[in-house]
Amino acid sequence: NYYAILMAGGVGSRFWPVSTAEYPKQFHDMLGTGETLIQKTFSRLSQIIPKENILILTNESYNDIVLEQLPLVKKEQIILEPAMRNTAPCILYASLKIKKQNPNALVLVAPSDHWIEDEEQFVANVENSFQFCEMQDTLMTLGILPTFPNTGYGYIEYDKLDRRPVKKVVQFREKPDYATARQFIQSRNFLWNAGIFIWSVKSIVSAFEKFQPEMYNHFLKGWEAYNTSTEKNFIEENYPLAENISIDYAILEKAPNVFVLSATFDWNDLGTWGSLYDKLDKDESDNAIVNASVYLENATHNIIRTEGKKLVVIDGLKDYIIVDKENVLLIYPKNKEQDIKKIVGKLNQ
Ligand code: GDD
Ligand code: MG
Repeated sequence: NYYAILMAGGVGSRFWPVSTAEYPKQFHDMLGTGETLIQKTFSRLSQIIPKENILILTNESYNDIVLEQLPLVKKEQIILEPAMRNTAPCILYASLKIKKQNPNALVLVAPSDHWIEDEEQFVANVENSFQFCEMQDTLMTLGILPTFPNTGYGYIEYDKLDRRPVKKVVQFREKPDYATARQFIQSRNFLWNAGIFIWSVKSIVSAFEKFQPEMYNHFLKGWEAYNTSTEKNFIEENYPLAENISIDYAILEKAPNVFVLSATFDWNDLGTWGSLYDKLDKDESDNAIVNASVYLENATHNIIRTEGKKLVVIDGLKDYIIVDKENVLLIYPKNKEQDIKKIVGKLNQ
């Protein structure tokens, strides 16, 4: 009964120039391990979920890339979105397809672009969550102990007195402002949302019915067509009309039956060059080097990446991102990494 919805439709623009709209970060070997992020994620999920039950949700323009990178996956497992509408429509669409095939399915929803260190713990946490969701109508989130007021994450408040491993969520707050995030961290009963969810297909579909009735009715119109030859027509016409909203705002902030399991694995969402830097091995001057061969003097805490084994010579540079790719060379301070997204917009890249 185990299924997975693997979300692989984001653009990852803060990893420009490696990640681009044509070829986003989940399809790159960001860690320099020989495997792309989606390949790593697929093999992690297949330790718990039968391979044929892993559905890959992505934009139709990435179909060929997915087929090439995951050759074991059948065509029907790749679910193509004709427009980018964020994670709520993508999860509802996939859930209805799964429900039609197997109404008792238990579903893991996972991003395709994260770094997870301890796979055994990951598997154990997901197994526990599946067992919990099988017994009661629960939307399970995996929580990460926060280390600083990151405004790019969702925050999960739990009851301080609740000592159980799976806790009832008091409130879920997606991307608070900095002051609020700081206050959350000081309260000590907040976790970061890892963006990994576990629930029964019945629970998530009925949460959509309650909290996003318009979107629910919109997609339910396709019920007859799902998993048949007329599905594509229905989706081409109707998917682009769905509201552009993430699952966090659409469901998790609203539902009363959200629970959290404090994750026991190391996690990093690989959202920026700086978060990637944290996860890479460093040289004796704390430089992280991917692919490049280097000659460095007075260079510390930089991340340096080239396509081939290009020689990079640097003297006197600290805390920089240096990324060389075909027609683009990026030399950018690490403390302004969030601005890369804006630059990409300005340059129309
Ligand atoms: N198929 C599909 N279609 N996938 C998508 C789409 C879409 O339109 N949009 C985003 N995704 C994928 C991304 O590729 C990524 O794997 C995942 O869905 C989450 O989207 P992000 O855009 O990276 O979300 P976020 O980082 O702003 O926030 C989410 O993740 C944080 C942890 O990394 C939220 O769930 C936060 O609450 C959470 O803390
Ligand atoms: Mg993200």
